[in-house]
Amino acid sequence: MNYRHAYHAGNFADVFKHCVLVALLEALKAKSKPLCYIDTHAGAGRYDLACEAARKTAEADQGIARVRGKSAESALLARYLALVEAEEPGFYPGSPRLAAALLRENDCAQLCELHPEEATILRALVRNDPRIHVHQRDGYAALKALLPPRERRGLVLIDPPFEAQDQEFKHIRTAVEAGMQRWPKGVYAIWYPIKLARDVQPFRRWLHDCPARTVLDVELLVQSDTVPRRLNGAGMAILNPPWKLDHRLAELLPLLARTLATSPGTGKSRLQWLKTEARP
Ligand SMILES: C[S@@+](CC[C@H](N)C(=O)[O-])C[C@H]1O[C@@H](n2cnc3c(N)ncnc32)[C@H](O)[C@@H]1O
Repeated sequence: MNYRHAYHAGNFADVFKHCVLVALLEALKAKSKPLCYIDTHAGAGRYDLACEAARKTAEADQGIARVRGKSAESALLARYLALVEAEEPGFYPGSPRLAAALLRENDCAQLCELHPEEATILRALVRNDPRIHVHQRDGYAALKALLPPRERRGLVLIDPPFEAQDQEFKHIRTAVEAGMQRWPKGVYAIWYPIKLARDVQPFRRWLHDCPARTVLDVELLVQSDTVPRRLNGAGMAILNPPWKLDHRLAELLPLLARTLATSPGTGKSRLQWLKTEARP
């Protein structure tokens, strides 16, 4: 439990992940029925970009700072940036805060965070919002209790720290396989880091065989995925994605690749259906 997201808040991987999150929740809101948002690794909720941890790495300078002011270039980016701008000045919103801003009155959120200090900050942040429930516990184990949600519609975001990469992929596979048995129609979005391309291959093979009927995989590289020991990119695997999510992401990803690349021309994005429903 050494990981603290304050060191990474607002970096390129957060921009990518949070744009996908906004697209997912907006797509789910296309139907009026209430939805449930479940965040297995919620973090502190929001982050002070002037704090010592954030300034030490200055990762936000290569992330949110680079996309600010580019609202005119993509409707999805504009929606995300409006939510970031709505946060208290100097702070960057994490997934719970973005979700809280997007959820409707009858929607609900279940936020899991294992780290006691992060969970305390998160709880204080949402304490006046009756739609939101914070659980200070292991997010993977919590899925057993939380699935299926009463609303029978919604999204599970799995965004772990990946301190030990192989181990984390294993936990994800086990939790999602069990979760899909309880709630096969849920939408599951899994964030994963891309260091060396080959490290992600076993997970991508599992995605091909996983129990979801449809799987969309999107990736953003800010530099070549052959640079060792660096976070060269990030991916989001989306199981049972909502209708037309791929169109919205296809419009945004090349812009993110251009804007967030570490050097001109090193950025790349990819959007790939790993499983599609068999057509009759
Ligand atoms: C990448 S951060 C989450 C960021 C957040 N989802 C966001 O987008 O703003 C991962 C978080 O998971 C927490 N964590 C680590 N292991 C956990 C576990 N087994 N269950 C729940 N939370 C965990 C860490 O303390 C950290 O706050």
